[in-house]
Amino acid sequence: MLPQWISRHSYSPVLSSDDSEAPLKPSMNWTNWLAPRRVRTALVLALLLALVFVVSRFSTLPERLHGFVPTNNQTSTPFMQQEQCNCSSPEPEPVNTATEPAVRWSDFAYVQYVTNENYLCNSLMILESLHRLGAKADRMMMYPEHWQPDNGSDASYPNKLLAQAKDLYGTKLVPIKVKKVENSDDPTWEDSYTKLLAFNQTQYKRVISLDSDATVRQHMDELFLLPSAPVAMPRAYWMDHFFLSSQLIVIEPSEFEWKRVEDAMNHLEGHDYDMDILNKMYDKSCLVIPHRRYDLLTGEFKGTSHENYLGSKEPWDARKALEEAKFVHFSDWPLPKPWLKPKPDVWEKHQPKCVGEGEQQDCSGRDVWLQIRDDFSERRQRICGHKWDNAQNERRSSVPRTPQRLKYEPVFS
Ligand SMILES: *[C@@H]1O[C@H](CO)[C@@H](O)[C@H](O)[C@H]1NC(C)=O
Ligand SMILES: *[C@@H]1O[C@H](CO)[C@@H](O)[C@H](O)[C@H]1NC(C)=O
Ligand SMILES: *[C@@H]1O[C@H](CO)[C@@H](O)[C@H](O)[C@H]1NC(C)=O
Ligand SMILES: *[C@@H]1O[C@H](CO)[C@@H](O)[C@H](O)[C@H]1NC(C)=O
Repeated sequence: MLPQWISRHSYSPVLSSDDSEAPLKPSMNWTNWLAPRRVRTALVLALLLALVFVVSRFSTLPERLHGFVPTNNQTSTPFMQQEQCNCSSPEPEPVNTATEPAVRWSDFAYVQYVTNENYLCNSLMILESLHRLGAKADRMMMYPEHWQPDNGSDASYPNKLLAQAKDLYGTKLVPIKVKKVENSDDPTWEDSYTKLLAFNQTQYKRVISLDSDATVRQHMDELFLLPSAPVAMPRAYWMDHFFLSSQLIVIEPSEFEWKRVEDAMNHLEGHDYDMDILNKMYDKSCLVIPHRRYDLLTGEFKGTSHENYLGSKEPWDARKALEEAKFVHFSDWPLPKPWLKPKPDVWEKHQPKCVGEGEQQDCSGRDVWLQIRDDFSERRQRICGHKWDNAQNERRSSVPRTPQRLKYEPVFS
């Protein structure tokens, strides 16, 4: 079948002419009619021309498909018309883009960032999951420029992990300068700055930044196809007022937005981190992604009220919640993150409890919660060769708890 745009432009004028309809009329003596040599010659010529026209259009098709995604101004005009509409009038109807191979996945990327080796394994685990789950978009990691991917036997730990990300999980590596703040060793700020560098990755049309203290259970390629917006984020559903969660951010990188973000970071008020900055900038214009499925906190399995997460009084089913979730963030304070060995008494005290008594007892919340942690430990062992990290390396959750921190590490009870 020829696409509509071809039949409209070149094919139909030839076919609908009297010549081609003639054979369909039985009453007409068409052999006589074709007899004059000039008529036959003209017919043959016309057919040849039509053939040449169609072939020439098709031969450039791959290039056009390739060049499809608008690079400068995001116009809504489908690509075929932009090149062709001045060769005839009236203009052709818009091509049905749903049937066109219009999505070029290499325009999109899942982004990880690392500022030092402590969180590198977590990022690697996210990249491995996306690779294993068949994400179609690129995977990209921003890393300090003094590292070098190297899997030789005497390569350093971060260099080996970089090589692993690149060779085994098809990750694009982007070296960056980690910005230090003078007179401050607040690593959280460095992280925030580096995370927001995603706005500057203009080699991509859209990127998804995922926090690495989390588990990806299904890919999220569909988020790359959301209606255009500078950023799309889920709500921080654990907060009692409207606030956006920066655990998952869909970003359209651009020089303009990057300048705005950079400017905001250069004019920080108090202890603002990435989440505060983004809320100030985008709370009125952000596209809101449903937090249900896209930003589930592990603490939810400890909690007793689930209306905020579910969005209604729908009965809570821990297994179903995990089943449908695509992105699960580790927020279990005061328990440590799952790569830090918890003290036995803290572990006993703060893991989720079963509810009910005897026959009626329901332990599904605790079981699901343990399952998420066990899965994390097992993957960490497999991917990075060790299950536990040194607690000295911990960042955010070691910061004293202030109202500020509750945005990042809520407490469920
Ligand atoms: C994009 O559109 C604006 C306004 O319509 C125009 O000023 C600008 O030159 C266009 N840019 C490109 C690259 O076509
Ligand atoms: C058709 O488009 C081409 C390229 O954009 C342009 O050079 C040409 O002048 C246009 N022709 C008409 C009739 O508008
Ligand atoms: C190590 O390097 C070799 C050769 O370049 C490559 O084939 C292999 O996939 C790499 N392995 C890892 C774990 O990066
Ligand atoms: C932002 O991107 C531009 C273009 O790729 C690059 O030249 C610049 O160094 C980047 N800025 C930072 C702070 O990384």
